[in-house]
Amino acid sequence: MSIALVPGSFDPFHNGHLEVVERAARLFDSVVVAALRNPQKSEPMFDLEDRKAMMAESMEHIENVTIVSVSTLLVDVARDVNASAIVKGLRAVSDFESELQMAQMNRSLSGVETLFIPTSSHYSFIASRLLREVARYGGDVSHFVPGPVQKALEAKFAGDAQ
Ligand code: PNS
Repeated sequence: MSIALVPGSFDPFHNGHLEVVERAARLFDSVVVAALRNPQKSEPMFDLEDRKAMMAESMEHIENVTIVSVSTLLVDVARDVNASAIVKGLRAVSDFESELQMAQMNRSLSGVETLFIPTSSHYSFIASRLLREVARYGGDVSHFVPGPVQKALEAKFAGDAQ
């Protein structure tokens, strides 16, 4: 049985992430989507459990997907779920340098391979960092995130006039 592990910080999960999971779900028997801490990034907007709940609701339509949220090394998750490969989306060349480094580190640590899925061009500008900023200042992110994430962002900033 082939198992893809799709990791990310997903803070928040957006339509570009969703597209990568949907495509992975057509290529592998099952997909485990893992929300993890990225120690390179500042304090997250949503805690891991909230992110997991939003992601679960956003991916109810994909039968062969499970979602986990963990604060460990990615290679430990890969071993625990018996992943055949880590799968990540690539939006642009600018993603490649850090993704290559992580892929090489993860392979050195555990032997697990990383496969990249090029994001569709209409999602290539979507980034969680930008969505957090747009939502914080009251912008409309409804075209870029699944409904449950939109609701969570609205609830977070309801009444804020920053
Ligand atoms: O969505 P992101 O922020 O690009 O995802 C990065 C993530 C969360 C996959 C990466 O930071 C990660 O693997 N974190 C878990 C800790 C870990 O294994 N670090 C070593 C990476 S080589």
